[in-house]
Amino acid sequence: MSQYEAEIKRRRTFAIISHPDAGKTTLTEKFLLYGGAIAQAGQVKGKKNTRAATSDWMEIEKQRGISVTSSVMQFQYEGFCINILDTPGHQDFSEDTYRTLMAADSAVMVIDAAKGVEAQTRKLFKVCAMRDIPIFTFINKMDRETRDPFELCEELEKELGIDTYAMNWPIGCGKEFKGVYDRQNRKVIHFTSNTNAKAATATQIEVDDPALAELIGQSKHSQLVDEIELLDGASCDFDMERVRHGKLSPVFFGSALTNFGVEPFLEEFLRMTTAPLPRKAGEQVIDCFDEDFSAFVFKIQANMNKAHRDRIAFMRVVSGRFDAEKEVYHMQGGKKMRLSRPQQLMAAEREIIEEAYAGDIIGVFDPGIFSIGDTLCAPSKKFQFDPIPTFAPEHFQRIRSIDTMKRKQFLKGVEQIAQEGAIQIFKTPYTGMEEVIVGVVGTLQFDVLEYRLRSEYNVELYKEGLPYEYLRWVVREDENAQPLKEEDLLLPADAKLVEDYKGNQLILFASQWSIQWVTERNKGLVLAEFGGAKF
Ligand code: G4P
Repeated sequence: MSQYEAEIKRRRTFAIISHPDAGKTTLTEKFLLYGGAIAQAGQVKGKKNTRAATSDWMEIEKQRGISVTSSVMQFQYEGFCINILDTPGHQDFSEDTYRTLMAADSAVMVIDAAKGVEAQTRKLFKVCAMRDIPIFTFINKMDRETRDPFELCEELEKELGIDTYAMNWPIGCGKEFKGVYDRQNRKVIHFTSNTNAKAATATQIEVDDPALAELIGQSKHSQLVDEIELLDGASCDFDMERVRHGKLSPVFFGSALTNFGVEPFLEEFLRMTTAPLPRKAGEQVIDCFDEDFSAFVFKIQANMNKAHRDRIAFMRVVSGRFDAEKEVYHMQGGKKMRLSRPQQLMAAEREIIEEAYAGDIIGVFDPGIFSIGDTLCAPSKKFQFDPIPTFAPEHFQRIRSIDTMKRKQFLKGVEQIAQEGAIQIFKTPYTGMEEVIVGVVGTLQFDVLEYRLRSEYNVELYKEGLPYEYLRWVVREDENAQPLKEEDLLLPADAKLVEDYKGNQLILFASQWSIQWVTERNKGLVLAEFGGAKF
């Protein structure tokens, strides 16, 4: 195997998904600790604050003390080169979060053992599932009172529609948490809490060892024996092919905070995942080992420096090796170019790089030429990756400039920000030029929009909240068909036909019920939850 192949083979690129507070940051931090990328726990969170305090980009970050952008971290662990894609959770949930998942080859889903499947887990899972990428579940916080593990697995299966296979099984929880039973090795890993150090000690003991009953107590022991029998009898077989196609999720129980079960989880995860996945470009499939470099843009981070309106375009390298010295071809721009100031993130530090391999994420300086989904490839081999889907916003406002004389700046600003992918903009047949409907996935984007229009375009906004919560694309089989008119459709009062700036038609709905109503009463009307993508 050449050094080039070996470099690609050792890459793993995955996203961590969860509902806020399930323990995503804590788990990520433990991974980084094992890889030696950080020296002590607490650094990841600390970094967020330091960055907001020292950099002046996105004042809003400072004001709110949060991170508006999703980040990527690279670290090394036992010969693997790992790229973790963070998916921001709290108020800063945005379409960027979904798009980041397009760059991942697998996902780690963190579940709070006391809460089970939560709203944001569900949304992020759906996006991973539509690409059939492997999804590994880490059921966290076993050192606290939890729900019944059987019930948790059942909920994952029912709510998310994925089969589960418990790789290990917890013995008790909270104060009574004794450890986990490793099903493959038929060993119990015993947990001894050490609250001061926030770290547990783990010792291994064979499940048949008579000393086990003494260690975990007679009743816990009999319960474990019964549960093992139940698990072995009831659960589906472990099938690696199904894992690799996102049909079966390996489930691990543990506690990120006390560091219990995290390293075995990481090791199993690395063992079960593969080198970077191929991507489709129309009829072609671009494999990671293809000789030539190729990448696609999945995220644009704007306004790093207000004076220059510069941006950073994040791209996922799909094939080959990126060489900062070599020219690449930007398909959508139809131009050869050298990527400017390529950089990578390592635990929130940026560093300029000379090379990168398939699987890696690089950020390049963007003078305003890149859009989400753009392809970069070798000048000798041109192709275009399939588009990144547009995800349905869930919050809508009608906006216009308070000062009607500033209509032009207003439109330029919203169009620019929409092009970066931070917001989506729509109009109705009756909307004049002076107002637009804005849709966002997370409400913080409204604040970002208002802030940026004020500071970059000198426009003060008039905003009006709209009651819609859902958006569906109208699917037209015949691309040349006349656009639908409102009178062609039976719509309830709380639904509205709109159009985006590319001419796609969409319907806004205030409720799920309303979507159902429209689908039932308009025969032949096909609605899609994602826009512009094939899977
Ligand atoms: P997130 O990124 O998914 O939002 O979650 P994060 O890691 O920030 O964890 C949320 C809270 O849950 C934190 O507590 C964290 O310490 C705690 N936590 C994470 N994993 C475990 C675990 O395995 N067991 C227990 N008992 N707690 C866990 P916090 O009080 O909100 O923050 P902090 O003051 O500890 O930083």
